[in-house]
Amino acid sequence: METTQQPIHSGFNSKTTAAELAAGHDLTGKTAIVTGGNSGIGYETVKTLAGTGAHVVVGARDADKAKSRLAGLKNVSFIPLDLADPASVDAFAARFLSLHGDLHLLINNAGLFRLPQMQKDRRGYEMQLGVNHLGHFQLNGRLWPALQGAATSIWCALSGQLNQMGGVYCEDCDIADLVPDDSPAVRGVRRHAIDPENALALWKFSEAATGIQWP
Ligand SMILES: NC(=O)c1ccc[n+]([C@@H]2O[C@H](COP(=O)([O-])OP(=O)(O)OC[C@H]3O[C@@H](n4cnc5c(N)ncnc54)[C@H](OP(=O)(O)O)[C@@H]3O)[C@@H](O)[C@H]2O)c1
Repeated sequence: METTQQPIHSGFNSKTTAAELAAGHDLTGKTAIVTGGNSGIGYETVKTLAGTGAHVVVGARDADKAKSRLAGLKNVSFIPLDLADPASVDAFAARFLSLHGDLHLLINNAGLFRLPQMQKDRRGYEMQLGVNHLGHFQLNGRLWPALQGAATSIWCALSGQLNQMGGVYCEDCDIADLVPDDSPAVRGVRRHAIDPENALALWKFSEAATGIQWP
């Protein structure tokens, strides 16, 4: 999918709090998944979504840590998930599908960054690629039946204004500006990151690596 980058003037920015984003939204009856919902940004996302009335399913690899962190939060449940392990991803998805109907919000939050040494996932791929990308690719594929009934097919939905604008890179709750390849700015998105051919190559590699084929 090729989508033009354009700001949506959401009114939100890097200083916007989760509570401000959620204000006025009632998600009662909706089901969400947050991977890595036991810490950091994921935990704040879980608290905020649960506070709007959504049922939030947390996927995390350390059950004891997750259960103690999530204790006391209403509308939250836990299913074990290790994104480095394809069998664990399959088990998470199978358990979710057996317990729930539609999935309305899928927050692929879990991730690793700058590991101190080379590590590999159970597939044999470098750990950051394996967890951050391939694990989520497989998870999304397995959960696809539950996502089919969702009201939108947007993958990066931070605002209702994004409806019909899937496949874009978001920044500060808005769409990132396209900047020149040699731009010294730390903001914005560069051409290679939204190149359709690169995206297709990554998609094909990911299908081969995980065995997931989208219909
Ligand atoms: N914070 C930032 O400035 C920043 C900037 C850019 C991108 N991000 C990305 O935003 C996301 C959240 O960031 P954060 O700062 O909140 O990170 P964080 O506190 O380190 O949380 C990362 C989460 O990912 C989970 N995780 C790691 N490996 C996993 C695996 N194999 N299976 C399942 N879960 C796994 C961790 O679980 P454990 O608790 O078991 O380790 C933890 O819950 C990450 O993907 C990060 O790369 C963050």
